[in-house]
Amino acid sequence: MENRLEQRENYTLERAREYETIYQAQIPKSDRPMFHLTPPVGWLNDPNGFSCYQGDYHLFFQYYPYNTNWGPMHWGHGRTKDFLHWEMLPCALAPDMEYDKQGCFSGSAVEKDGKHILMYTNVTECETQKGRNQVRQQQSIAIGDGTDYQKLDCNPVITADMLPEGSSHVDFRDPKIWREGDGFRALVASMNEDGSGQLALFSSTDVKNWEFEGIIDTCKNRYGKMWECPDFFSLDGQQVLLVSPQFMRAEGLEFHNGNNAVYFVGSFDRQKKQFLREEGYSVDYGLDFYAPQTVETPDGRRIMIGWMQSWDNYLTPEEQKWSGVMSIPRELRVVNGRLVQNPVRELEGCRTHKVTHSVMHTEAESRRLKLEGISGRVFDMTVTADVQKTQIFSIHLAASEEYDTVLTYDVSRGTLTIDRTNCGLRKDLICVRSMYAEPENGRLKLRVLMDKYSLEIFVNDGKQAASSLIYTPLEAAEIEFESIGKISFEVEKYDLE
Ligand code: FRU
Repeated sequence: MENRLEQRENYTLERAREYETIYQAQIPKSDRPMFHLTPPVGWLNDPNGFSCYQGDYHLFFQYYPYNTNWGPMHWGHGRTKDFLHWEMLPCALAPDMEYDKQGCFSGSAVEKDGKHILMYTNVTECETQKGRNQVRQQQSIAIGDGTDYQKLDCNPVITADMLPEGSSHVDFRDPKIWREGDGFRALVASMNEDGSGQLALFSSTDVKNWEFEGIIDTCKNRYGKMWECPDFFSLDGQQVLLVSPQFMRAEGLEFHNGNNAVYFVGSFDRQKKQFLREEGYSVDYGLDFYAPQTVETPDGRRIMIGWMQSWDNYLTPEEQKWSGVMSIPRELRVVNGRLVQNPVRELEGCRTHKVTHSVMHTEAESRRLKLEGISGRVFDMTVTADVQKTQIFSIHLAASEEYDTVLTYDVSRGTLTIDRTNCGLRKDLICVRSMYAEPENGRLKLRVLMDKYSLEIFVNDGKQAASSLIYTPLEAAEIEFESIGKISFEVEKYDLE
């Protein structure tokens, strides 16, 4: 079926909806994470259109239902009231127009006059003057009622020839739309002559007619090249820019090679249309996190969600019929010029079976310690460790005789390392990543969220975050503690229901 479909290139919405209905029903719920969004069937990447519409939160995503690998992009669709219980809605967009036949790429959404406005990148191929085919990315609009969306007849509404001369017509994507005053703004990722990323700002009063406002930032080949999936918002009196750069080079432990998600805090000079930024930092220090997008809630919170995977690490087990997981939505704050992220507070309402331990572990040498009631694969656990007399402190997760994923804090180096080498992978993928983390008053606080196949770590009340996937068989559910040197720590663990 899959191959026949690909050959026909007949990507209609009806077909996608029919396909996902049939195949979603064949995937047992127990095979999926409990409170993280996954696609009905097939492939998922970036979060799209994260928005509040008529009292619900909507999250769309890059989606290819017919295969667990990337293919011509559709928009999948989920809805939630609490960011944790997701209801899957029918596929929202299919690449069914001449102008988007290569895909409906990433974008965003707003509400306007009771309608839900989706802005996405339409990708097509056209012939150049030299008679060669070239990909072209522009921006289009679809308007709907929360379930069904109509693409505008006047699409694309932002064309590549609106960009300054020299800008690429190939790399021009991922519009982030927001309301400003009585109109709208959209920030779009683009590439300029020197092959490095730039961010183009557009404005509109009706979402159909757009004007180019200016280039608000250029990366000048620092922080990667193309900056994908920009998001731009004010928070706690500061302006924040999120971007997902491609082709980055590692810089110490701050950035790793390849695709990263980076944030900048700064200010926006509206007159000059310039973003004045400070130093950039990693949004997430784990192995799998990309293309985050935010929404503002009616009660004024800024919530971010990311695709919990990296383009270079494809871990999906062969027999699995879905691929790709969203992160836990995170509440953002800016504190002392840095982004602070914590799981949405709604998660606390799902906590059950509290277990606490206070351990005065005076054993000097390595000994793996199990604690009563501390095990599982779906939990929210906070470990606060006094590491002043410790050399190494490790937490083993999803562990059994055969499997192990380890979180290790090395006190003299000040590094926290995730190591999933023994999580059950049979491919030579990146398994180890380290970050600097500083104890506060001699204590390191780690909140670990696990939802079967994902691990999200929040360090010192959200000052840093790190996400990684592990497709370890669910039977491996031990949690064990180990140290070199004296250690005392407290554990507070909840199951999540
Ligand atoms: C980021 C990205 C976007 C693009 C989409 C295509 O992961 O490359 O730039 O719109 O994925 O699926």
